[in-house]
Amino acid sequence: YGDANQKIDYVFKVVLIGDSAVGKSQILARFARNEFSLESKATIGVEFQTRTLVIQHKSVKAQIWDTAGQERYRAVTSAYYRGAVGAMLVYDIAKRQTFDHIPRWLEELRSHADKNIVIILIGNKSDLEHQRAVPTEDAKEFAQNEGLFFLETSALEATNVESAFLTVLTEIF
Ligand code: GTP
Ligand code: MG
Repeated sequence: YGDANQKIDYVFKVVLIGDSAVGKSQILARFARNEFSLESKATIGVEFQTRTLVIQHKSVKAQIWDTAGQERYRAVTSAYYRGAVGAMLVYDIAKRQTFDHIPRWLEELRSHADKNIVIILIGNKSDLEHQRAVPTEDAKEFAQNEGLFFLETSALEATNVESAFLTVLTEIF
């Protein structure tokens, strides 16, 4: 954690997208600062945070962009995707609708982002197993058909958040 005064070999821009309240901002807080809040406010506009990691002996600065899932709070779409080399497409495993909207997000992503962008589908809130509304197999199959990576995460419990970012960053690399 923390950006030391080290030489940076690469800067990779990664964007977070998905419906409001699926946990995009908390996934970012967990990855960038190892923090989590249950009283997270809806994002307005665009925010970003960075974290520098060492991957295959190179220092990689991950610049993670986060925007509002709510249409009315969203910023200019083309600017958000510009230069992005990775994308995290997030839904909430306990809210079916957020998974049903994934094809729309994917369409937006594919029409605005670089065609070589690395995409991971993320089913967040895996700690809410007792409220699960999206079977893991359904998401896995969707991801496979669309050529996406896939992981279930919990920003709350810090499960797989690191792995999700590493999957994307390593593949970009
Ligand atoms: P917008 O900014 O409106 O697009 O929403 P968002 O996707 O950034 O959601 P946010 O990170 O603000 O989280 C929404 C709510 O879900 C907050 O109350 C979070 O605390 C909660 N939350 C986020 N991640 C998890 C998780 O892994 N598990 C559980 N149980 N709750 C979570
Ligand atoms: Mg947010």
